[in-house]
Amino acid sequence: TFVVTEACIQCKYTDCVAVCPVDAFREGANMLVIDPRECIDCNLCVPECPVEAIYPEHEVPAEQQAFIAHNADLARSWPAITRVKAAPADAAAWAEVRHKRHLLER
Ligand code: SF4
Ligand code: F3S
Repeated sequence: TFVVTEACIQCKYTDCVAVCPVDAFREGANMLVIDPRECIDCNLCVPECPVEAIYPEHEVPAEQQAFIAHNADLARSWPAITRVKAAPADAAAWAEVRHKRHLLER
């Protein structure tokens, strides 16, 4: 499966959802996750993300490993998102912030 990591928080560009052939993305208030029960490992979403938030599970950086479980857990309760929507007005500013996982809204 593929995993959305910390970089997505407060950025939420949603370009990723436009290319997913199986509608695997799920939407939270300030981040998206991928439902591992749906993802077919096609890799199409990775180059779409402006902040490079998406990794194949086996390539998730060490400091981002917690997001493997976050994606699996949060995907169970968050609704599907299949259409691109406008990013938050301050998305570009948040793209520069490396440590923001404490802001994740469940
Ligand atoms: Fe969807 Fe493919 Fe990305 Fe998985 S790897 S979330 S199937 S676009
Ligand atoms: Fe997040 Fe990147 Fe998609 S910022 S919403 S993973 S395009």
